[in-house]
Amino acid sequence: MTQLLSLSRSARLAGVTRAEIQRRIRRGELTTFEGEIAVSDLLRVFPQVSLDNDDALERVQRIKAMALPRSHDADTVLPSPEVLRSRLKGMGEALAAKVSALDAAHTLLDDVEARLAQLGQAPTQAGLQADIRELADWLAQSHQALTDRTTLDREAQLLAKDNFLRLMAASVKLIPSGRDFFVEGDESILEASVRAGLHLAYGCASGNCGACKARVVSGEVRKIRDHDYPLSTREKEMGYMLACSNTAVTDLVLEAAEALSVDDIPPQEIRATLQGKEMLDGDLISLHLQTPRTQTLRFMAGQRALLTLEDDSAAELPIASCPCDARNLRFLVRRRPDRPFAAAIFGDQVRPGHLVLIQGPVGRFVLDETATAPAVFVAFGEGIAPMRGLIEHGISLDTIESFHLYWQAPGDASPLSLEQGRWCRALQDALDNFTLTPLPHADTQEILARLLADHPEPGGRRFYLAGPRSRIEPLAEALRNHDVAADRLSMEFLED
Ligand code: FES
Repeated sequence: MTQLLSLSRSARLAGVTRAEIQRRIRRGELTTFEGEIAVSDLLRVFPQVSLDNDDALERVQRIKAMALPRSHDADTVLPSPEVLRSRLKGMGEALAAKVSALDAAHTLLDDVEARLAQLGQAPTQAGLQADIRELADWLAQSHQALTDRTTLDREAQLLAKDNFLRLMAASVKLIPSGRDFFVEGDESILEASVRAGLHLAYGCASGNCGACKARVVSGEVRKIRDHDYPLSTREKEMGYMLACSNTAVTDLVLEAAEALSVDDIPPQEIRATLQGKEMLDGDLISLHLQTPRTQTLRFMAGQRALLTLEDDSAAELPIASCPCDARNLRFLVRRRPDRPFAAAIFGDQVRPGHLVLIQGPVGRFVLDETATAPAVFVAFGEGIAPMRGLIEHGISLDTIESFHLYWQAPGDASPLSLEQGRWCRALQDALDNFTLTPLPHADTQEILARLLADHPEPGGRRFYLAGPRSRIEPLAEALRNHDVAADRLSMEFLED
């Protein structure tokens, strides 16, 4: 019997990205059966798969340590997380051993059936007796081999590990899109989907609006917080629940509304509070706005929002923070005495507590989620702000082959450069498919030469450019002249 695993589970067990699994499938090295991979195939392609004590196990152990010591049953005293972990691991291995033995017994039965079917074909009585003796010997040996199985074979070990991970993280498959993600610990289904870079419909993220209503097609959920939004009896009977207020107990199939493009995200209007202004250099301020507890801004990484101050001055700016924390929004504001909004931000009147109207999101500078090709990002100055969102989103999605960021920083010693430099170094340490190339004082021709040296066939790459129009347009033109198609080039223009 062939044991199958989803792409996400295969990637997690093999310790590689989903992009790597998909690449192997495209090359024909791995075969899929209705979107799943056979355990034996996975072990053949990744013979080095670690079956014990790897990072994934360490990580789930940490999650479990945080999530476990809560019992809703006062009479139940849970053992320590370490004891539970050992017991679960032991049970998983025992179960996998039984499944493996059962599979082997099935295979043996099939072989016996095939051999019996051939028995009557011997031409003489003596030949028949010889065949029967041979069959009896073979059966005795096979039976003995089955009985002697004392250790788990590699397939069974992999299944044991998968069973253990299943206990720690449930997989959720969305229909109709077919996308999937893991819910870890007791986080909400909505939180887990945003962390995975998906765009489930939602509004308040706190059980008030009902926008995250979704139908459980199979599997079991558990409510993790009370919610004010009332689900009707009929809706409950049909399996509807709120994704922001429930976690997954078992693997789920969920029918849910998803935004597949920026056009699917509704325009929103939120009155947020200014939490702080951080001076990044003499001419650049990072604004931190916080939305009310019952309202979050739903947007895709890379998009912009229109900010209006109490004096009606306004500016449309890239959102320099992650959709995964949509209550806390950050924006970079450059000093411009001729712009009332920037002048107000750099002045004394706008202080923490000031109300700011946020309208949006707007803009189409978002990640091309269908492109798995290596992605190249070129940022000038604070063009790094939307770029950071795109890269983090791409990493969450885990479908892009590699990331190469070129950045012309405003100045080596500026706090913006230092902070982004720390972020880049953290990515380089954590990912083997992320590269940073600084572009100190390079002009368009020098940048192009560098890009072509690193990516000799730019037509096969996906480009994202962000910065002043005067820097972006000549570079985009040069790339188009080197066979980069228009639909492989996304641009975000910031003010010069
Ligand atoms: S997002 Fe509003 S109820 Fe879930």
